[in-house]
Amino acid sequence: MSDSSFYVTTPIYYPNGKPHMGHAYTSVLCDVLVRYHRLIGEDTYLLTGVDENASKIGEAAEAAGKSVAEFTDGQAEVFKAFYQGLGVGLNRFVRTTDTDTHWKAATEMWERLEKAGAIYKGTYAGLYCTGCESYKTDKELDDKGNCPDHGRPPTTISEENYFFKLSAYADEIKEHIKSGTFRIEPESRRNEILAVIESGLEDVSFSRPKEVVPHAIPVPNDPSHVMYVWCDALVSYISGLGFGTDDTTVFDRFWPAQYHVIGKDILRFHTAIWPGMLLAAGIPLPKAVFVHGMIISDGAKMSKTIGNVLDPQDFVNEFGTDALRYYLSRHISPVQDSDMTRASFVESYNANLANGIGNLTSRIMKMIDNYNINIEDMTFPSVHEVLDGDDVSEYHAAFRDNRVDKAADVVWGLMSFMDNYIQETKPFTTIKEDPEQATEDLLFLVERLYEVAILLRPFMPETAAKIEAAIEDGKALETALFQRTE
Ligand code: MSP
Repeated sequence: MSDSSFYVTTPIYYPNGKPHMGHAYTSVLCDVLVRYHRLIGEDTYLLTGVDENASKIGEAAEAAGKSVAEFTDGQAEVFKAFYQGLGVGLNRFVRTTDTDTHWKAATEMWERLEKAGAIYKGTYAGLYCTGCESYKTDKELDDKGNCPDHGRPPTTISEENYFFKLSAYADEIKEHIKSGTFRIEPESRRNEILAVIESGLEDVSFSRPKEVVPHAIPVPNDPSHVMYVWCDALVSYISGLGFGTDDTTVFDRFWPAQYHVIGKDILRFHTAIWPGMLLAAGIPLPKAVFVHGMIISDGAKMSKTIGNVLDPQDFVNEFGTDALRYYLSRHISPVQDSDMTRASFVESYNANLANGIGNLTSRIMKMIDNYNINIEDMTFPSVHEVLDGDDVSEYHAAFRDNRVDKAADVVWGLMSFMDNYIQETKPFTTIKEDPEQATEDLLFLVERLYEVAILLRPFMPETAAKIEAAIEDGKALETALFQRTE
């Protein structure tokens, strides 16, 4: 047990379309981590939100025939409902259109950067990809001159911009990464960004002309410019805690963050630009950035043209919240790209949920009920005792590395031990010849089942609660936890 705080952030997502499986993955991963850390007694805080001041949001609003405000209000509700459908428990949902909190914080950040001499005016002539909301160089494009992530050419722009003097902070950022005061996990991503820094960090454009993105945050004292969307978006990690407002109690309690969890596509923003901004502003760096891989489907990036897009909402509607949480936690590697298809989902659903945890719980509870075994007076180990158990050490070790997939394997390992135990001891037969032995075996099994439920809490909170309630009632389940499907 620990009394430390555990503050985790997801990226704030662009709400120009429906939430997709990538958004679902990062959000579930963060929620599982937070639920685990809460289970072991830490003071947790989960922040997410939407990145609304991007030029692509203006374009999406226009395409929908709505004002930016109307469009983003609607999309914010869509994203909130999405989190609910995933069982993700949020402490804070940041909207970057919130002028009372977020705009104040972003303005405070800008002023600090300016005061530190880290902002200057210049001209940017080059390429910009609205899909990435990022400036591009020729060598970042494919052989057709397209952005490799968006399959279309960036626009050529020539603008007067304010620049952030990132180059001046390169050595300091590198030092923090090398000494481990700013950790980047896994190791391969740490090496990747160190190589980028060593090849030379250039200053970055930090503003756009107001007429290009009229709804974005104005640059202090220069209404003809607005903040570049990443300068604004990264600040959400502290604006959501009250930085820049009159009440900074939450900020003081939770900053620096334990982890910013991100996909590998936005590594440079989080491990070069963001630490550079914080160093210039005199704000402590987050302790770590955890970088996960991408979900691909049928060997390819999900795309409407290929037709391999998997909609998280369809999975929740068809199989339930916990089933999707299970799949994302156990079958998507937090450190590598992973393939997901409906077929692989259904196969695992049947094997590990319907025939796995569902069947195991039904069998045990049915025997307890049928054989009138009284478990009401049984004393179960406390949550604390379960977590201190010898067989749980690998579970904790996996969580120390954010390997939620491996932690889930430990729980399913315990279930296969229980399945074997039933096969070997056959309480359904011995109940006639040796009822005392059968009772003892079933009490042992129900205690293990209780342990499984506790360990499942971070991954499948609804299922864990149902198992715990069934054990409390000591009765057979009225409906199966998961129904087999084709
Ligand atoms: N708005 C920026 C982030 C600003 S954070 C200060 C952004 N938004 S996004 O909507 O494009 O979401 C990006 C994040 O979604 C990725 O970093 C990753 O976390 C997640 N994913 C997007 N596609 C994904 C997959 N196919 N697979 C897994 N996660 C991916 O970038």
